[in-house]
Amino acid sequence: PSLTDQICSSPKAELHMHIEGSLEPELIFALAQRNGVSLPYPSVEALRSAYAFTDLQSFLDIYYAGASVLLTAQDFYDMTMAYVQRALADNVRHAEIFFDPQTHTARGVELGVVFDGIGRALDDARAQHGFSSALILCFLRHLPEDEAMATLEAALPYRNRFIGVGLDSSERGHPPAKFARVFARCRTLGFRLVAHAGEEGPADYVRDALDILQVERIDHGVRAIDDDALVARLACERIPLTVCPLSNQKLGVYPDLRQHSLKRLLDAGVVITLNSDDPAYFGGYMNANWLAACTALDLDADDAWRMARNSFEAAFLPAAEKRAFL
Ligand code: ADE
Ligand code: ZN
Repeated sequence: PSLTDQICSSPKAELHMHIEGSLEPELIFALAQRNGVSLPYPSVEALRSAYAFTDLQSFLDIYYAGASVLLTAQDFYDMTMAYVQRALADNVRHAEIFFDPQTHTARGVELGVVFDGIGRALDDARAQHGFSSALILCFLRHLPEDEAMATLEAALPYRNRFIGVGLDSSERGHPPAKFARVFARCRTLGFRLVAHAGEEGPADYVRDALDILQVERIDHGVRAIDDDALVARLACERIPLTVCPLSNQKLGVYPDLRQHSLKRLLDAGVVITLNSDDPAYFGGYMNANWLAACTALDLDADDAWRMARNSFEAAFLPAAEKRAFL
């Protein structure tokens, strides 16, 4: 088969996707209408044409505005089911899905509504399509640690609905150390731990996420390339990076994908996985990300096979379940 066919048909796990980032403009408008929410854009086309980002913050401003149409459990259900359909079409067999509770509770949406809508969609996806999934609750790093701690406490009644916690939103100026106490508590509670680090922030943030937060995977982590000792450590300790090529291109981390560090990291032995981050905003779901990376960096069938295998190795699944996917 061609490399394109191999990539598209290969079973994959997606480990870095924000469910709020899967809201397509059409669904944003449909939900706005259903809920009587007014949007600062006259049309789907006008909204989509606002997706011209210069950096992470310029994206986040629009991403949080888009999420403002989510009010009921049915809204969260519809958003999640739309993502599942896209993932199935790309042969994603397992997804570990981020969600941002603080984006919703700040607008008066109850945490139970969020868990119910997303959770019911993922239960249906498993029952109807055999789609495997888990949820990871992300703390917003531009907000104080106290608010992350309060969010954790509020989420504990839903303890069995999520497997882990992460850290997202504006990276620069919000280093991992700011969240040392809440991550320590999550570790005590037995949650799996991940954090965005080294997307716009420096390689030091990747090291601090490992040493201070004690995360098991790094989301993005592409700036690790600036520190040879850190790259060697990531490879030696088999710490996975969840890399998102189209996101990095659209947010100006690597405006030209041919310059992307993922090939150099892969060649250095780092457990690289490919993911879509916020697919509705960055121009593509899983296979689009894989094809863009493989084309720009001239990756071969062996590279693609390794990254597919890495995606299951890096997943928070029992070993027997991982093996069954490959
Ligand atoms: N929230 C959604 N997508 C994100 C990203 N790429 N970086 C940080 N926070 C995010
Ligand atoms: Zn992300």
